[in-house]
Amino acid sequence: MLLPLIYLIGSITFILGLKMLSHPDSARKGNLVAAFGMTLAIVGTIFLYRDHSGNSLGNYPWIFAGLVIGSIVGTLAAKKVQMTAMPEMVSLFNGMGGACAMLISIVEYHHNPNPSMGMLVVIVLGMLIGTVSFSGSIIAWGKLNGRIKDRTIPAGQAINFLLFAGILTMAVLLVFSISSAPFLFYGILALAALYGILFVMPIGGADMPVVISLLNSFTGVAAAFGGFLYDNPVMLTGGILVGSAGTILTILMCKAMNRSLKNVLIGSFGGQKTGGSVGGSKEQGSYKEISLNDTAVLMAYASKVMIIPGYGLAVAQAQHACHELEKVLEDKGVEVSYGIHPVAGRMPGHMNVLLAEADVPYDKLKEMEEANDQMAQTTVVLIIGANDVVNPAAKEDPASPIYGMPILEVEKAEHVIVNKRSMKPGYAGIENDLFFKPKTSMLFGDAKKVLQDLVSELKQV
Ligand code: TAP
Repeated sequence: MLLPLIYLIGSITFILGLKMLSHPDSARKGNLVAAFGMTLAIVGTIFLYRDHSGNSLGNYPWIFAGLVIGSIVGTLAAKKVQMTAMPEMVSLFNGMGGACAMLISIVEYHHNPNPSMGMLVVIVLGMLIGTVSFSGSIIAWGKLNGRIKDRTIPAGQAINFLLFAGILTMAVLLVFSISSAPFLFYGILALAALYGILFVMPIGGADMPVVISLLNSFTGVAAAFGGFLYDNPVMLTGGILVGSAGTILTILMCKAMNRSLKNVLIGSFGGQKTGGSVGGSKEQGSYKEISLNDTAVLMAYASKVMIIPGYGLAVAQAQHACHELEKVLEDKGVEVSYGIHPVAGRMPGHMNVLLAEADVPYDKLKEMEEANDQMAQTTVVLIIGANDVVNPAAKEDPASPIYGMPILEVEKAEHVIVNKRSMKPGYAGIENDLFFKPKTSMLFGDAKKVLQDLVSELKQV
């Protein structure tokens, strides 16, 4: 009687936790609430679960050895990871989830020598989806940390189609008991692993977060099949929540980039990770530089300043210096806000998390639409380490790979100051006309150093 209650509490904490994660103020607590529910469900299952014959789980040394090793590795990895390497860690952890779903299916396949057709469908689907998620996530992890290069596979789509057809044929043979040979089961597993690899391999670097979110939803669905297998409601709820949240996030990211999922999966945008330029690589003309002192004067006498953070702010770990700048400006009577693009940085909510870490008040963060509405009344826009999300080619150049992506329309402001280290392109590998516009001034240097120096200058103005 106690176990169903524990499962109910676990499921409720997952839903509450997820809800709380949607707001930066409550996100940290939401994470803890869901983790508490998960711990409760795990402990409850270990000690209170009884099978139909009344047997407990047993295997305690194995279970606890796994728990201890997993907890140590997970804690160390999460503590050590740099904020900018978060997507690759998420990808790796997600891959482990997929591998678990795959292993559950393998174990249950052998545990049930005469499964019903329904059970076989659940086992095969859990194994198939879990395996694709596992191998795909490992490739995504390797691509994000540079161990695996973007590669176009000749006739890749045709090969994937053949693999898919092969998987389907074997699954039908197995499920309808036309043949029950274990090689069919392991054949599906091998083809699914290959499918995951070939599916992620050609996808461009900048699109990786979308793919990771999609693979995350796959893992959720695979875990939900595990919940079915074990008749375990909390596993089912958890899987469904991860599956649906991952799907929604994937759709939101695609919308924010104004691209279809199909285009992300088969398009080549973002393949050029560094250097080079695509779409609009014409001669750009000259750009203007601004000194720290002039920037300080301009900002000190502005009525409204909007800061646009991007990936460079995260790389430089300049969030605290940024908050410092905001406070100094406010002391001088300047109204300061932040314009947040939904795909700025390298993961959803990257800028929100970063600025929250530096205690920037949440009400200062303006989402793209609101920020664009306020742009015309803004005296100075200070762009810190952002590039693609302010690239006017998205609006003006139909030949650009980012054409159609909504951007922060910084040109509507009176002055635009861009801080970055060089004239190199951003993650999508495309030139940015904004840097050459008459309104724009470049403030070169590492974001943290520049912001710290700017604060010192402002204190003297
Ligand atoms: P990017 O376009 O990647 O530009 C970042 C800029 O920061 C670079 O041009 C770089 O220029 C500069 N930078 C790097 N290190 C710096 C440092 N230490 N100090 C100062 N500047 C530094 O970034 P963004 O505007 O945030 O755009 C994000 C990109 O990721 C978009 O293409 C987006 O579509 C893609 N993406 C994001 C997501 C999510 S969910 N966030 C998902 C999918 C795709 P220098 O090298 O000259 O310094």
